[in-house]
Amino acid sequence: MKLPEIIIIAALAEANRVIGKNGQLPWRIPEDSQRFKRLTSGYAVIMGRKTWEFDLQKKPLLERHNIIVSSSPQPNIAAESTSAHPHLSFVASLQDGLTQANESKKVFIMGGARLYAEGLTLADTLELTLVAGDFEGDTFFPEYDHLVGTQFELVKVESHPGFRFETYQRFYP
Ligand SMILES: NC(=O)c1ccc[n+]([C@@H]2O[C@H](COP(=O)([O-])OP(=O)(O)OC[C@H]3O[C@@H](n4cnc5c(N)ncnc54)[C@H](OP(=O)(O)O)[C@@H]3O)[C@@H](O)[C@H]2O)c1
Repeated sequence: MKLPEIIIIAALAEANRVIGKNGQLPWRIPEDSQRFKRLTSGYAVIMGRKTWEFDLQKKPLLERHNIIVSSSPQPNIAAESTSAHPHLSFVASLQDGLTQANESKKVFIMGGARLYAEGLTLADTLELTLVAGDFEGDTFFPEYDHLVGTQFELVKVESHPGFRFETYQRFYP
């Protein structure tokens, strides 16, 4: 069976790699939300427990298999949510999440910080939104500059006022 393509999808402040503040995104960029929805719909998404609880507020992303990672997956949360949405899984590690996503052609690792850090070693593709400027925040995307040109190549850029989309693909030198 062909393994799913593993894609990291993240929006980060260009100047300091901030991705979150107080459990929320530090910005509101409707085009980025639309792109996120367009790219991820129909596939599996893997997220950390805090993103699920505070950012999504326990509302599953529709038309996607939502996979939530926690060191102690909570059956009470699972029970509450699975009744409303069948495509919801609670797992104990990124690897378990990837196993759960096996039925999907693509699996998106959608943060936060630790899943991005672990995911960078596994990802085939990075879908990044670089938000101009630096932002105050408490959560950061891992350093990845050193991987560009050694493991990933930039294959697409789409610029907009105040932000740009960048797609990177893993290459094997
Ligand atoms: N800009 C973006 O693209 C973007 C994307 C996503 C999130 N965010 C922001 O980032 C912030 C949340 O990110 P965060 O890094 O603080 O938290 P998070 O990754 O959403 O959640 C962290 C929790 O997830 C679980 N977890 C993560 N990796 C795990 C692993 N490998 N194995 C087992 N459990 C694991 C642990 O849960 P337990 O404590 O239950 O063990 C951990 O405490 C929010 O502000 C959110 O808005 C931004």
